[in-house]
Amino acid sequence: MENRDVIIACDFASAEETLRFLEKFENERPFLKIGMELYYAEGPQIVRTLKERGHCVFLDLKLHDIPNTVKKAMRVLSGLGADIVNLHAAGTRAMMEAALEGLVRPDGSRPKLIAVTQLTSTDQARMEQELLIREPIGEVVLHYARNAKAAGLDGVVCSPLEAGMVHKACGKGFLAVTPGVRFSDGDAGDQKRVTTPARARELGSDFIVVGRPITQAEDPSEAWQRCLREFR
Ligand code: C5P
Repeated sequence: MENRDVIIACDFASAEETLRFLEKFENERPFLKIGMELYYAEGPQIVRTLKERGHCVFLDLKLHDIPNTVKKAMRVLSGLGADIVNLHAAGTRAMMEAALEGLVRPDGSRPKLIAVTQLTSTDQARMEQELLIREPIGEVVLHYARNAKAAGLDGVVCSPLEAGMVHKACGKGFLAVTPGVRFSDGDAGDQKRVTTPARARELGSDFIVVGRPITQAEDPSEAWQRCLREFR
């Protein structure tokens, strides 16, 4: 696993569709993200399949439950060979610490563990009215990031626009994994606040998660390489 990389969001409904997409990459082995849709459709075998083919895998399942349950679930995910897994920081420090314990493999290695702070679909008004959290959302994101750091996690998922703040609060080595990336000449789709790969790098992203600009491109391999060139 490199220190700075482009992770392709494989937002596909089946293994078949995913493997058809990957045929376009010949001998290249991009870092892939498996989300809930693909994982729930295909189960753990999809992780093993992509690992056997030589890909690094970010398993984006966003766990959130009582500490003991998360610990045991993380043990299973770690055993599949995932390189990065995640959870909701809202599950508290006890849950994050339990998750880390569960991730350690018999040989002492473990996947990186990163936390979701506040989902980008949650805005200030919803947070206040529905979750009864009254602080400014930027403060909440940073507070959750500090909790994740204190629990021993490796980083957070955040907007590239928050990457600098996260590094300032939690240190340079604390990973900022950032979606919301678009080419300067591309279509933003449903993403509201987007940055280019080059800008994400300037802002301090460690990994960018890129879906449609690569998966929907006429030449996905070329789009992926362009992302890498601009980001590295
Ligand atoms: O297609 P696109 O580049 O928008 O895909 C971005 C990926 O990152 C999707 O899998 C999406 O679910 C994920 N993501 C996001 N925003 C977040 C967290 C995850 O776009 N805050």
